[in-house]
Amino acid sequence: MPSDKSFAKLPGFRDFVPADLALRNHIFDAWRRVCRRYGFTEYDGPPLEPLGLYVEKSGPEIVEQLYNFADKGGREVALRPEMTPTLARILAERSRGMAKPIRWFSVPQLFRYERSQRGRLREHFQLNADIVGEAGVAADAEITAVAIDAVRELGLGEDDFVARVNDRRLVTAVLDEIGVAQRHRAACLAVIDKAGRAGPEKTRAGLEALGIGGSAAHALAELVADGSWRQLRDRFRSSGAVLAAMQPLEEHREILEAMGLGGYQRFDFTVVRGLAYYTGIVFELFDRAGELRAICGGGRYDRLLELVGGEPLPAVGFGMGDVVLGELLKDRGIAPAAAPACQDYVIWMEPAQRPLGMRVARALRREGRSVLYGLRAQGMGKQLRSAARVGAGRALIIGPEEVTGGTVTVRDLESGRQVTTSLESVLGGAGHRTGR
Ligand code: HAM
Repeated sequence: MPSDKSFAKLPGFRDFVPADLALRNHIFDAWRRVCRRYGFTEYDGPPLEPLGLYVEKSGPEIVEQLYNFADKGGREVALRPEMTPTLARILAERSRGMAKPIRWFSVPQLFRYERSQRGRLREHFQLNADIVGEAGVAADAEITAVAIDAVRELGLGEDDFVARVNDRRLVTAVLDEIGVAQRHRAACLAVIDKAGRAGPEKTRAGLEALGIGGSAAHALAELVADGSWRQLRDRFRSSGAVLAAMQPLEEHREILEAMGLGGYQRFDFTVVRGLAYYTGIVFELFDRAGELRAICGGGRYDRLLELVGGEPLPAVGFGMGDVVLGELLKDRGIAPAAAPACQDYVIWMEPAQRPLGMRVARALRREGRSVLYGLRAQGMGKQLRSAARVGAGRALIIGPEEVTGGTVTVRDLESGRQVTTSLESVLGGAGHRTGR
């Protein structure tokens, strides 16, 4: 244990010892496979950005959580809390002349000064997949499908998680219809966003605090408690604006159903997303049991590229964190065991046997096998125990007779069976190259 407490790990940050890194890589590999399957290409950007990139564009919630400081050149900078502004900045500089739609993904590490709790840390990795340059609902459905498949690829199914989908334009149309004043819009969205966790009492109090009372508060409270699709359509059947705002979601659902992913999504009026830049369909993935924070959040943001100085391009995308997913995989018992360190363990006991041991190890490594051996002369029993400890499948034993006879004894460490065989038969084609 370090004696000086100041060397302790910062709260909300993680060490990745090999077992933890195996889980992280397992998640990243699945994400990358799925993104490539959908024709996305990977990009990255700097972890440190100008502070101004986040102020206003991302909204107050994320700005409060920034790790920001003045660098030695006096520039106001921030560790990236999300990837979307970086993507918008990169494309603002380069998208002209690029074939559209652009399908890019990234797996950045992000930093937010949040209160650490289960599923929420001060750093996390996030899969970001975005389609830029396509305004139609098919792009929203495609992005939602990538998010769903990125979770399915890890072995989770319809019983484990659900995508809750809504549309900011629909919420706005409803707020218009029930007479919520323009100046209360942003604050009202924040109350709706938190309604699921806050419960009806607090939601009503939050609306009252904004001066939204009477029938408007009543209507909103009802929608928040049971914002079912049918209820919405019945209640607003005479409002052309609300009915029109329901159309894109209808089409979104139809496309996902045609893909066979209909069971993974459902309408939820309380999903409005905390970030300021969303303009259309928004969605969040949650575990079905409702025990954890969101696995993923995303949606359409058609004005962000223009805001950071680029050509006006419609865009849709999501961010999926590694923390909640990791918890879910562990809870379900489908997190991978740490990969065994090696396949073959070469055993030599005396210095005279070492050259042949080195030849064998080198040839096997050239064949792509992972190989270990003791770095000092030791007895056979000790070395066999070392081989078992690192999970080796085979021990290749080189004693005095093997050196004289040009042979190797190969022991299967699971069954204990062993055969003494010629050097060439162990090394195969590689055996002939070892002397070079
Ligand atoms: P977000 O909702 O802020 O969206 O984050 C997306 C996901 O990242 C969350 O659902 C959660 O899984 C994970 N996440 C966020 N904060 C933390 C944290 N402190 N600890 C652990 N995991 C966390 C965005 O960031 C948008 N930029 C996503 C996006 C991309 N929208 C369009 N394109």
